[in-house]
Amino acid sequence: MDAGVTPAMSAVPVFDFDGWMRAQLARVEDALSHWVCPDAPAGLGEAMRYAVLDGGKRLRPLLVLAACEAVGGNAQAALRAACAVELIHAYSLVHDDMPCMDNDVMRRGKPTVHVPFGEARALLAGDALQALAFELLTPEDGVPPAMQARLCRELARAAGADGMAGGQAIDLASVGLQLSEDQLRQMHRLKTGALLQASVVMGAVCGQTPEGTLRALSDYGAAMGLAFQVVDDVLDVTQDSATLGKTAGKDAACDKPTYVSLMGLEAARAHAEALRAQALAALAASGLTDTRALAALADMVVRRSH
Ligand code: IPE
Ligand code: IPE
Ligand code: MG
Ligand code: MG
Ligand code: MG
Repeated sequence: MDAGVTPAMSAVPVFDFDGWMRAQLARVEDALSHWVCPDAPAGLGEAMRYAVLDGGKRLRPLLVLAACEAVGGNAQAALRAACAVELIHAYSLVHDDMPCMDNDVMRRGKPTVHVPFGEARALLAGDALQALAFELLTPEDGVPPAMQARLCRELARAAGADGMAGGQAIDLASVGLQLSEDQLRQMHRLKTGALLQASVVMGAVCGQTPEGTLRALSDYGAAMGLAFQVVDDVLDVTQDSATLGKTAGKDAACDKPTYVSLMGLEAARAHAEALRAQALAALAASGLTDTRALAALADMVVRRSH
C-alpha cells in the first residue's frame, strides 16, 4: 500500500466515470438500434433511424440510467425509459429544425432530417418516434404496471403543453422580443429543462424511491435542466458549427432571446456554474450513498464544449 493511504481510503474504489459512460452508451445504442423500426413503410423507418442513430450525446438516457443505479432500481425498466426519453428528444429536434420552426440544415454533424427525406416525412418521423417512446414504456412483461403508468405520466407531462411543446411555443412567440429573466427561465425550463428533469425522475421511479429522495433528485434535475439550456445558449455564441455539429450563431441570426442576449456571455456562464452548484447541493440532500455518476453528469452538462 502507498505511504499515506489508510485502509479506509483504499477500500473506496475510484469511480471510473468514462468507463461507466462507455458501457451505458453501448447499451443505449444497441437498444435504440434494436427498437427503432427499420421496417416502417415508405421510407418512414429510414427517416426515424436517421434521426435517432449515430449521433447525439445521449445525455438524457445517461441521466435515466444514473438515477436508476443510484436508487438501485429495475434495470430493464430504466433501459426502456432511457430510450423512450431519447426518442422524444430526437423527435423534438426533427421538428425544431424544420423550416416552420428554426429552419436549420445541420444537426449532429449531418443534414437535418427534412433535407434528405422531405418535410412531410420528417414530420411523420417525429410523430412516429413520439408514439414509439410510449410503446417502449409499456411492455407486456418485465415492468410492473404501476411503474409503467408512472413512467408514461412523467414523460407525457415533460413532452407536452406543460413541458417541451409548451416551451417551444413560447420560443416561437418570443422571436424579436426582450424577455425578463423570469420569462426566459420559464421558457428554458419548459422547452429543455422539463425533459432533462423527467429523465432523472424516471430513473428514480424505476426503484422504490422514498418521497424525500425523489424530491431531491427532481430538484437536481431541474437545476441541471435549466443549466443545460443556458450552456446551449452560450455555446451557440462561442463555438463553431463543426464543433457543435449544428449551425453556430443561430440564436442571434434568428433574433431569439437567450441568456447571453439577456445578461451577456460571462454572466450566463457564471449562472450555469451557480446552477451546477445547486444541482450538486440537491444531490447531497438526497440521502443516497453513491451519486458520483449524477455528479459527473452535472459537470459534463455545464463544462461541455458541444
Ligand atoms: C440540443 O440538445 C437541443 C436542446 C435541447 C438545446 P443536445 O445538445 O442534447 O443534442 P444532442 O442529443 O447531443 O444532439
Ligand atoms: C431546442 O432549443 C429545444 C428543443 C426542444 C428541441 P434550440 O432550438 O436552442 O436547440 P438547438 O440549438 O437547435 O439544438
Ligand atoms: Mg428551437
Ligand atoms: Mg433549434
Ligand atoms: Mg440552441
